[in-house]
Amino acid sequence: MQELEQILDGALKTFAALEDAAALENAKARYLGKEGSLTGLLKGLGKLSAEERPAVGARINQVKQQIEAALQARRDTIQQQALQQKLAAEALDVTLPGRGVGVGGLHPVTRTLERIETLFHSIGYAVAEGPEIESDFYNFTALNIPEDHPARAMHDTFYIDEQHVLRTHTSPIQIRYMQAHLEKYKHLEAMPDIRIIAPGRVYRVDSDATHSPMFHQVEGLWIGERVSFADLKGVIADFLKNYFETEDMQVRFRPSFFPFTEPSAEMDMSWNGGWLEIGGCGMVHPNVLKHVGIDSEKYIGFAFGVGVERLAMLRYGVNDLRLFFENDLQFLKQFNS
Ligand code: FA5
Ligand code: MG
Repeated sequence: MQELEQILDGALKTFAALEDAAALENAKARYLGKEGSLTGLLKGLGKLSAEERPAVGARINQVKQQIEAALQARRDTIQQQALQQKLAAEALDVTLPGRGVGVGGLHPVTRTLERIETLFHSIGYAVAEGPEIESDFYNFTALNIPEDHPARAMHDTFYIDEQHVLRTHTSPIQIRYMQAHLEKYKHLEAMPDIRIIAPGRVYRVDSDATHSPMFHQVEGLWIGERVSFADLKGVIADFLKNYFETEDMQVRFRPSFFPFTEPSAEMDMSWNGGWLEIGGCGMVHPNVLKHVGIDSEKYIGFAFGVGVERLAMLRYGVNDLRLFFENDLQFLKQFNS
């Protein structure tokens, strides 16, 4: 009996000291296994006298139950601890700041285009568009630039095939719009004024600090019965003042030549101690009106075409136009703070 108490005491202490499930199961074998000490005592029961046997047997069974209960309790505890450890290791700190979704911003050229559209919209200009792959006819011929005319060499053109080019300017949109406008209002005695701007991507074989092979222009066109060169200067001067938000404009008009305008001028703005050309303009050439079927005796108007990247450079103080298209996030982020 003395031995039985020692076994019980030993088992309880051993179990309590173990922290590991496998070690606990090994320890169980020492008491309850085939070779275990308690099993040994049970086997020894047969040697006892008939009087002693029931009481000792009952006590052994009691101890066995106590050991099993202690074992199960310890198993539960170890399992609970393992679970707690696992939960702690996998814990999610919901108070940590999140990683956040990168917020995109508008490209400076897009911002510039939107600004130009808003300003012209406010003085009653509609926005027109046209295809980037343009026929030779719309890009050149209809604009009074016949085949073999030296003016075709003014643009270093990307040809798609004999008859198609990547448009070299937004001027073909003028032609498309005038044709559609005329068709739309042919039932009217007098054609309503045409007043549009036409923004878009254009292409030329060109690349340096102020030229890119792909760039943007905004075309402007106003055709009516009494549109003059003074209107042209007024509209452009007003636009530039509003665009740059200053009355103090460093801008000059320089006589120039375009086959589709007469007279023609180019506009320059002060930049880096010199002048930067921002666009061309002039009174729409009668041949262009004739080409689309507008009575050039009755209607007159002006057109202009400005370089959007050039306007963006001047407004934001950028020294190399190619930066706009290098996808350099450090550069681009400056426009979205
Ligand atoms: C034209 O393209 C004429 N279609 C403009 C025009 C329209 C004149 C209507 C008269 C009436 P020009 O080739 O000069 O003209 O180009 C106009 C503007 O586009 C230039 O002043 C410049 O600001 C811009 N530009 C021209 N080439 C490039 C280029 N490679 N990269 C960036 N901007 C350019
Ligand atoms: Mg020019």
